[in-house]
Amino acid sequence: MSDITAKMNSVFRSLDGGLFSTVTKADVGEGAGNLIEKGVDILAWADPFFPDPSIPESVKKVMIEAIEEGFPSHYSMPIGAKPLREAIAERVLARTGLDLDPSRNVIVTPGSDSGLLYAMMPFLEAGDEVMVIDPSYPNNFLDPQILNASVVAVPLDRENNYAFDIAEFEKRVTDRTKMVVITHPNNPTTTVFRRENLEELSRFIIAHDLILVCDQAFEDHIFDDIEFVSPCTLKGMWERTVTVCSISKGLGLSGFRIGYIYAHEKIMDKYYAAAVNVLGAAATITSIGAVAAIKETEYLDYLTGCHKKRRNLAYSVFSKIPKVKLRPSESGILTWLDVSELGTGDEIASYLLKEANVLVNDGSIYGEMGKGHIRIVTSVFKDDTKAQKVFTSIAEALRKKASGDDM
Ligand SMILES: Cc1ncc(COP(=O)(O)O)c(C=O)c1O
Repeated sequence: MSDITAKMNSVFRSLDGGLFSTVTKADVGEGAGNLIEKGVDILAWADPFFPDPSIPESVKKVMIEAIEEGFPSHYSMPIGAKPLREAIAERVLARTGLDLDPSRNVIVTPGSDSGLLYAMMPFLEAGDEVMVIDPSYPNNFLDPQILNASVVAVPLDRENNYAFDIAEFEKRVTDRTKMVVITHPNNPTTTVFRRENLEELSRFIIAHDLILVCDQAFEDHIFDDIEFVSPCTLKGMWERTVTVCSISKGLGLSGFRIGYIYAHEKIMDKYYAAAVNVLGAAATITSIGAVAAIKETEYLDYLTGCHKKRRNLAYSVFSKIPKVKLRPSESGILTWLDVSELGTGDEIASYLLKEANVLVNDGSIYGEMGKGHIRIVTSVFKDDTKAQKVFTSIAEALRKKASGDDM
């Protein structure tokens, strides 16, 4: 047969396995699996408490009962089980005041990674340009390209706490621009975009008649009383915003593979129409578990407390390292370190793997502006003492690097 890759579309032809093809610094895939087998601590997956068990007892009980009854051997509806869509609508109402119709405005996705691609799918085609904030989640850069659109990175400035600078958007907008993609709170920086800043962005989006895809995978744990605003609630934004969410990060149930999208019914109709082709359906057993988990609002508060404690611990350990700059994280389970005085992100991630036996992320996978940074997932392990030990060994290794003793 002729070269099989020559038969592929140009986007897939140019893919080379990406994160799955690098072994030592792999974010996901075989490389990380091999490192786990060698006893390396993985602080590179945004997976709360990895690798320790963390299903709440009440959720476990509901799922075990469901298995004993036997129903989970069957499909859920492709748009999501109704009780789950109802629980999601209640959750969104409590947070945003938006009164969603579970049968018109909500769709369940098998995790929000597929949800993010699906969110973009009805809108993008060849020739379209998508503005993606930089740094942000790597999928934001690849997903539009998979749909044949091109990506225009819009830099966020560390000195400005990675807020949107609308002048940077204005400079790059063209008559081909169709969409803006944001991760809010941002991954990797943990920035929670403030109301005024989101309002500025909305004005830009409305003025240029664009679509907003807003990934809120990290919305559940916001620290220091910072207000969290869903941009779809701002004036003029509901009809042009697709909001993508997940229970992976907030409820610490990444293995359940449950995400969801909410949007105006005119947009949702398209998602419903193609659901069975693209999404199939989320797993029935974890859909049942997700309903129980979403209803456990006290559990969510407990988790916010755990993540905040880790945030504080990480900041107290990492902020004492010479030549390393960081801010206290504003949300979630991550910390973002500027290590540019010590080396590239890639060099420092490789160095930490060797010196401290930990896998962290090279910041350059989050865009050009991520160069010279590393991302560390701080809410790994259940046990705070173990976390402290690993953070300390990272800090010692970086201190050694900063003093030149690593030569
Ligand atoms: C910003 C962001 N969005 C979406 C996802 C995907 O999460 P999931 O597919 O588990 O819902 C991740 C996972 O790391 C993420 O960091």
